[in-house]
Amino acid sequence: MGVNISGRSFLKLLDFSSEEIKYLLNLSAEFKRLKMAGISHKHLEGKQIVLLFEKTSTRTRCAFEVAARDLGMGVTFLDPASSQMGKKESLADTAKVLGRMYDAIEYRGYKQEVVEDLAKYSGVPVYNGLTDEFHPTQMLADILTVQEEYGDIRGRKLTFFGDARNNVANSLMVVCAKLGMRFCACGPKELMPSDELVKECKKIAKENGGEIELTSDIKVGAKDCDVVYTDLWVSMGEDSALWEKRIALLEPYQVNKELMELAKPTTIFMHCLPSFHDLETTVGQEIHEKFGLEAMEVTDDVFLGKQARQFDEAENRMHTIKAVMYATLK
Ligand code: CP
Ligand code: NVA
Repeated sequence: MGVNISGRSFLKLLDFSSEEIKYLLNLSAEFKRLKMAGISHKHLEGKQIVLLFEKTSTRTRCAFEVAARDLGMGVTFLDPASSQMGKKESLADTAKVLGRMYDAIEYRGYKQEVVEDLAKYSGVPVYNGLTDEFHPTQMLADILTVQEEYGDIRGRKLTFFGDARNNVANSLMVVCAKLGMRFCACGPKELMPSDELVKECKKIAKENGGEIELTSDIKVGAKDCDVVYTDLWVSMGEDSALWEKRIALLEPYQVNKELMELAKPTTIFMHCLPSFHDLETTVGQEIHEKFGLEAMEVTDDVFLGKQARQFDEAENRMHTIKAVMYATLK
């Protein structure tokens, strides 16, 4: 029987089988082809989605908005200041109201329980646009990008350098395990994924011919690696007082020319973005003034170099989010 995820929420990749994830990736590639060929695909005409953002966003919001419009859907955007949720109205009541008006809800915020509860109470598909724990829509875009580079991704090694217990690193570990890739978390001991998630992912990886490795040694992380991946050293929602400590812990894991040279000449660089690779941001400037750094998690030469694929990834957010909405709402 074919894969059918109609009516399902997309909250974390642990909820989806390898076949279901592969189906979404194939659908994403097909939507990308249609978009590139200029072929209209308004398959969800008349459906409505509401986007709830409790944290800021460029890519996720724009990807949802453009994808929804390409599919013929109506879109409402709500930021924390413009809804009653949590202040004058409980999460459950908000979810019930939105479920009466909309066919789907996207949520970006803090606790994973919030997005799980929205799905529980709204009765419509809910999409996780990033929580403190997971960033599942990002994963489809990332893996589509890896597939575009390598074709068959099984056995390919992806190493995440940096804060290896953040939402993006957690999600990469899950998706690599589900798809039979080799995932390596490379960072300081203090910033490794939880034992519980590692145990679960190792079990999943074993079933799919993948591997999970944790190391604090950049040489081990970079060895035979096909994808070098990094993300911000302090994530949204974390205290800015953490910068000093994180810089001290994570500077050795900065993705720079020397680190890339420990991998292969064909290795690609990936980043979910946004990124502090230069001094063109206010935060980048502040960190420079306080700690003297010119770049943080990745240096400008790598970011602008031939191996970098972060803007393909960013574009793929839109094609993959379109696939998720179509597959769950058709
Ligand atoms: N990668 C990503 O989720 O970007 P935004 O925070 O801009 O949505
Ligand atoms: N780990 C980052 C990802 C941003 C897309 C954050 O949560 O801020």
